[in-house]
Amino acid sequence: MILVAGGTGRLGTVVVGRLVRRGLEVRVLTRDPERATHLACDQVQVVTGDVRDRDGLGPATAGVDVVVSAVQGFVGPRGISPATIDRDGNANLIDATRAAGADFVLMSTVGASPESPMELFRMKYAAEQHAAARGLSTTVVRATAFLELSIELLEKTAARSGRPLVFGRGDNGINFVSVIDVAALVERAITDPTTRGQILEIGGPDNLTFSELARAVQLAAGRPSSPRHVPPGVLRLMAATIGRVKPELGRQARAALVMDRVDLTFDTAPIHRSYPDLPITSLADVLGHSKV
Ligand SMILES: NC(=O)c1ccc[n+]([C@@H]2O[C@H](COP(=O)([O-])OP(=O)(O)OC[C@H]3O[C@@H](n4cnc5c(N)ncnc54)[C@H](OP(=O)(O)O)[C@@H]3O)[C@@H](O)[C@H]2O)c1
Repeated sequence: MILVAGGTGRLGTVVVGRLVRRGLEVRVLTRDPERATHLACDQVQVVTGDVRDRDGLGPATAGVDVVVSAVQGFVGPRGISPATIDRDGNANLIDATRAAGADFVLMSTVGASPESPMELFRMKYAAEQHAAARGLSTTVVRATAFLELSIELLEKTAARSGRPLVFGRGDNGINFVSVIDVAALVERAITDPTTRGQILEIGGPDNLTFSELARAVQLAAGRPSSPRHVPPGVLRLMAATIGRVKPELGRQARAALVMDRVDLTFDTAPIHRSYPDLPITSLADVLGHSKV
């Protein structure tokens, strides 16, 4: 039995689908079972729980062989943050996994480090460290930015004006990876015990600027207009003003500033040398699928 915390999410949904096709029994942890209706089938059990509720995780992890954490608190409103979910929630899940005697697969981020300017990356690192300190049999999967999420954001902001919003100058190199590729590596991590004790890093074939990504989305949608930009000065102002009232908006503005200046390019060749059967999904493939 595999427990997938975050199984209702963008990545988790693809991971659960892959595990089911492999014939495995899956338990999905969600705060709201309504969010798991698209996963319903004989092999999938849905359990209600919250990674912030330490005691509630005992029943969810009972009888499980591998626990997967694909949760995140980056975009959450008050009370839901990288600190409460990615660090503390994962710590609760790690402790419950240890008590259940299961292995652990942790979704983390390329760039996870205690010195990162990105709060999320520091909190992911703290979770990695917690798993190591507990002596848990763990595989860490670190991924770059999800292509599907960025395309979704560009589409959403283009909905009214036809012109997507790029946060910042948009001229910084960023690696984008499809959840299809990440899910294949997560499945490998779950089912291959030789990955325990390893940190597996995956990116996509595309290192792009946000402006390039926005132009590709426009082209695929047949929209001739150019993207709009939120200048870095406005992002700083947002972080210092609205960010005080709505922490999630402040967090997103600060993250956009980091993504606008820190080199986030990545070479994904090493993971494909280690696991040549992993898919390599390009921007063109994803734009073709989503028919934007
Ligand atoms: N998005 C990226 O660019 C990116 C890049 C690198 C790594 N990652 C990592 O990849 C993983 C999946 O990301 P994603 O974008 O697919 O996530 P997502 O679609 O935003 O889904 C987030 C998941 O977290 C669960 N969750 C949030 N708070 C929870 C809580 N308190 N208790 C239990 N579950 C909770 C949600 O479950 P319910 O709402 O059903 O409760 C949902 O299934 C995350 O660990 C993320 O940090 C993401």
